[in-house]
Amino acid sequence: MSLRLFSFTLFFPGPAFPGWMVGVCLVACLGVGGCNPYSEIRSELSPADQMRFDRGLRSATPCWSCHDLTGDAIKVGPPLLGLFGQQAGFVKGFPYSPALRASRVVWESGTLDRFLVDPQGLIPRNRMLSAPLVDSQSRTDLIFFLRLVSGRAPAD
Ligand code: HEC
Repeated sequence: MSLRLFSFTLFFPGPAFPGWMVGVCLVACLGVGGCNPYSEIRSELSPADQMRFDRGLRSATPCWSCHDLTGDAIKVGPPLLGLFGQQAGFVKGFPYSPALRASRVVWESGTLDRFLVDPQGLIPRNRMLSAPLVDSQSRTDLIFFLRLVSGRAPAD
């Protein structure tokens, strides 16, 4: 009886399964590449661009906490799919700050670079409270990565 109970707890941890384990598994999985959600995009790149892509993926680490980069989920910030060529404030249903909505900034490499190094400098009084990305190589890699993974427009 106690053995059955033991194996039950081992294999069916149920709601007690700690959420951080899911995070650990996801990070490990992204590391090995086999179940990387981007493995298809990545496999079409040259070896040099694959290295750039991987560096960009790492530079994007802080963005994940507030932005969905693979789907259309609204988190603290809007999802970034379909970003390039769009005017700031393009995600329907996201409660943007009036400053960002009125900015008329169009997202492309140059504007993103300026926004990431100094969000308040490009759009004063916007509500994105993230640390500036001061290293220009990290910004270039991140923008390269974003351009490849944000190709699909978010569903309306
Ligand atoms: C602490 C949360 C947070 C982090 C971290 C963060 N963002 Fe944001 N981001 C936001 C919020 C909130 C907004 C909307 C700001 C507003 O409405 O003024 C935003 C807006 C944006 C926009 C404008 C999108 C649009 O729909 O026009 C871009 C682009 C962006 N973030 C990119 C990034 C990138 C790239 C990173 C990682 C380097 C990042 N953000 C990190 C919260 C965050």
